[in-house]
Amino acid sequence: MQRILVWDLPLRLFHWLLVVCVSGSIVSAKIGGNAMVWHGRFGLVVVGLLVFRLVWGFVGSTYARFFQFVRGPGAIIAYLRGQWHGEGHNPLGALSVLAMLGTLLLLVATGLFANDDIAFEGPLYALVGKDLSDRVVGIHRLVEPLIILLVVAHLAAIAFYVRIKKETLIMPMITGQKVMRSGIQADGVGETAKGGGPVALCIALVLALGAAYCASGAWISSPPAAAAPAAAPNW
Ligand code: HEM
Repeated sequence: MQRILVWDLPLRLFHWLLVVCVSGSIVSAKIGGNAMVWHGRFGLVVVGLLVFRLVWGFVGSTYARFFQFVRGPGAIIAYLRGQWHGEGHNPLGALSVLAMLGTLLLLVATGLFANDDIAFEGPLYALVGKDLSDRVVGIHRLVEPLIILLVVAHLAAIAFYVRIKKETLIMPMITGQKVMRSGIQADGVGETAKGGGPVALCIALVLALGAAYCASGAWISSPPAAAAPAAAPNW
């Protein structure tokens, strides 16, 4: 029996913050009205989280890296036949991770330019105007059920692992650690995660904060205040 690190701390924080923000943005959109302010705020945090995750997929620790878990159809078929052995995301789970990240990217990218015809406007609405914004909202609404479907499938897959395969995936996503019964194998499978140090973390955080700032629209200069009406002539 040996404990190894599979999910580093930044990746776990990313995951649980994403859970809070995606759930919050779905609930606030369903409530509508004043809650749309929160929908926008959750969306901005999701922008930062997604950029963080994309960068972490290259500079993070072993099992967070895209090159480690994104595999071709051969590996997926081997996994379905029960012939795959490895750590981190399995080849099929990797597809669902990519689908969730891709769908969320599309949702935030369209949400930034959206408007709801009443009081809510995405922070970059001013850059595109009403016509284009209306078209973009169509895509945003079309994609929304897809993320709910993907999250339900994600939870069903985890429940399947826990109930049927008797393998808990949830504790490793909380503690980062996994107990290996077989030890490290000759091909390196079962090694503890390496990399993703402080420099990598700083790079990912700076890029994530930069992206959230750009998405917030805070840099768009507000239109000049209307000129004060000339004093009424006193005749
Ligand atoms: C809005 C809800 C959720 C979203 C959007 C979401 C999204 C994700 C994403 C994107 C990943 C991939 C992590 C990465 O490598 O970046 C992931 C993995 C994971 N999530 Fe979630 N998640 C949600 C809810 C949950 C919940 C409620 C649980 C626990 C009950 C959970 C447990 C896990 C676990 C265990 C993994 C790792 C799976 C593996 O071992 O391959 N997730 N999730």
